Amino acid sequence: MPINIAIIGASGYTGAELIRILLLHPHAAIKILTGDSSAGKNVEDIYPHLRNRGLPKLTALEKTDFSSIDLAFCCLPHGTTQTVIANLPKHLKIIDLSADFRLADPAVYKEWYGHTHQAVKLQKEAVYGLTEVARAEIKKARLVANPGCYPTSAAVPLVPLLKAKAILPGSIIVDAKSGVTGAGRKVAQNMLFAEIDGGINAYGVGAHRHAPEIDQNLSRAAGKKIIATFTPHLVPMNRGILSTIYVQLAGKYTVTGLRAILLKAYEHEPFVQILPLGLAPSTHQVRGTNNCAVGVFADRAPGRAILVSAIDNLVKGASGQAVQNMNVMFGWPETTGLQLSAVFP
Ligand SMILES: NC(=O)c1ccc[n+]([C@@H]2O[C@H](COP(=O)([O-])OP(=O)(O)OC[C@H]3O[C@@H](n4cnc5c(N)ncnc54)[C@H](OP(=O)(O)O)[C@@H]3O)[C@@H](O)[C@H]2O)c1
Repeated sequence: MPINIAIIGASGYTGAELIRILLLHPHAAIKILTGDSSAGKNVEDIYPHLRNRGLPKLTALEKTDFSSIDLAFCCLPHGTTQTVIANLPKHLKIIDLSADFRLADPAVYKEWYGHTHQAVKLQKEAVYGLTEVARAEIKKARLVANPGCYPTSAAVPLVPLLKAKAILPGSIIVDAKSGVTGAGRKVAQNMLFAEIDGGINAYGVGAHRHAPEIDQNLSRAAGKKIIATFTPHLVPMNRGILSTIYVQLAGKYTVTGLRAILLKAYEHEPFVQILPLGLAPSTHQVRGTNNCAVGVFADRAPGRAILVSAIDNLVKGASGQAVQNMNVMFGWPETTGLQLSAVFP
């Protein structure tokens, strides 16, 4: 029997990506799709690639009956899920793609989001859903906080290295580039083609909201507080995140040793690809897939290494990892519905 699924915020980019993936999933029946300004429309009127797939119309959240739903994916702007969630039936399992439940400490949330959390009890209950790290907790969770795209690209290569104490915790620099779908579908002047095409810019320098989430992941792995340097950049492409990460080796560790740790940590992971030494991943090779590809390099500077990680922000960075988490929560093989090949070129 398939489970009944609602996608709240289905008219946005992560919602549409969830639909694309779930249409391939043998245990998923898409029953409810909600929109805000697009409520009342057919999804195919917004996303023609989803034409003739028998999808329900977009409905307004407040007019939607969730009583027959088993699992809701929330794809809402941050700050919205925490207010919406109180009105959802308590039997629902929820995977939230926003940042609302990712930060465990309410004080840190307030500092970075500028307001007191509206659902502190649920914030405490939520399980941070970096699948490769927390699948035992995700399996038992009712509410999963799906990780952010930049934090996923940083955590996959760094968490095993910090757990093994193979790199110095104070040395981490994450220099990341994202495509424009990372900002969602809402209309904004700085996201116009003319503003983006042919250029690249850093933003949120020293102050991006994904920084505390990156710190939280790295600190949990290291067992002590880590503050990483993180600079995101916007590049003229639709999808993809490429993070170039600079680290200092601990003790006698070599780059070959770092790669061996990563190979061991991910040897049974279907979605993490540790590349041969000297090979750098590109966003093209993961586009449309739930994969994270990681390259490991020696730096010219003695005792330093460079890690390069590539994901699709809308898949491993959002909707793909959300489906991976759904598979864990319902006890299905993690790859179910996610055996996607990359779209190349
Ligand atoms: N884009 C990414 O790569 C990415 C990656 C990881 C996480 N995320 C997070 O995932 C969430 C969704 O991102 P997205 O890129 O899909 O955003 P988006 O394209 O802007 O879509 C937002 C969705 O929420 C709906 N919505 C907006 N305000 C609402 C309200 N007050 N009440 C009910 N529905 C409302 C919109 O409906 P209408 O369009 O009909 O108005 C739309 O369906 C965000 O929190 C984002 O930070 C995004």
